[in-house]
Amino acid sequence: AFKPLVFSGVQPTGNLHLGNYLGAIRKFVALQESNDCIYCVVDLHSITAQLVHEDLIGQIRSIAAAFIASGIDPEKHIVFNQSAVPQHAELAWVFNCVARIGWMNRMTQFKDKAGKDRENASLGLLAYPSLMAADILVYRATHVPVGDDQKQHLELARDIAMKFNLDFKEKIRATGTGVDIVVGEEPVHAYFPMVEPMIEGPAPRVMSLRDGTKKMSKSDPSDLSRINLMDDAEAISKKIRKAKTDPDALPSEAEGLKGRPEADNLVGIYAALADTSKANVLAQFGGQQFSAFKPALIDLAVSVLSPVTTEMRRLMDDTAHIDAILRKGGERARARAEKTMAEVADIIGF
Ligand code: ADP
Ligand code: NA
Repeated sequence: AFKPLVFSGVQPTGNLHLGNYLGAIRKFVALQESNDCIYCVVDLHSITAQLVHEDLIGQIRSIAAAFIASGIDPEKHIVFNQSAVPQHAELAWVFNCVARIGWMNRMTQFKDKAGKDRENASLGLLAYPSLMAADILVYRATHVPVGDDQKQHLELARDIAMKFNLDFKEKIRATGTGVDIVVGEEPVHAYFPMVEPMIEGPAPRVMSLRDGTKKMSKSDPSDLSRINLMDDAEAISKKIRKAKTDPDALPSEAEGLKGRPEADNLVGIYAALADTSKANVLAQFGGQQFSAFKPALIDLAVSVLSPVTTEMRRLMDDTAHIDAILRKGGERARARAEKTMAEVADIIGF
């Protein structure tokens, strides 16, 4: 079997929001206790949808600051910037030749981000999942904590790994670089592991506070739709007070949240912030009105987020410190990635 290794990434595009925090960063922090982890600021991804960014380096630093302010230990684990390790792009090229155009065309994120004028989307946006597969597999990572929106991309990463393993089966054996694994019932002599997505939890997809059917997102034009990691207590309070709800009381069991997306979302957010289940939250608040639940949610959100925000601001003022962490992380990541790419070159025959 492959040695367990956690990898995940966040794009340096726009403000981090509660969806990024609960769907990704908070999980990163929890996983570091008992795993070897690599957390990456994926700047190469950030130019797929929008090429020119006003302050990309500032955005990169702010994601690194968010990781560290949230509790990730950059000494024990690796925190770095994707473009510091050229092997990500190198392996992505190989994966572009492994993956099929039809696989990419089916990706819902590509369809959403490309919009109607697909012919005019960047080639990079289409190939995004191939680079994401390379980010993970250049470390032969086995576990990837992400939000629910990334599920389809991780399935594609498994397809790419599987096709590479099968297409190069003989070469993997001949070079002695493979590992025996079982996929389904099938024994496979694999160079790349089948990555496991880690999506579970009470808020795998945090929804907009204005519309319970849309995910909370950086690109939503309404700032009231999301809680930003840099929001102060007043802003958090205002956004939760104004969050869309329905007129009914909270149900006493999770079943009762079906067909009530806004209620489901707020209860899920509470549960994730409190590190508990939706059932436990409803055991406490079932039968109460939102007028009673919202103040409790505001208090909880402020108490969890404000120390992170304060620490993030402090770190962002010390750019030399952040840059040193990224530089050191980049060196450690590169050493691992170089080893993989040398083996991949050997397998392919370069
Ligand atoms: P965004 O989707 O906000 O542009 P990224 O693509 O960089 O940001 O995603 C960073 C991480 O945050 C990913 O693991 C993604 O699944 C997660 N994420 C983003 N939005 C949400 C959301 N609304 N709910 C849960 N997780 C989310
Ligand atoms: Na995303």
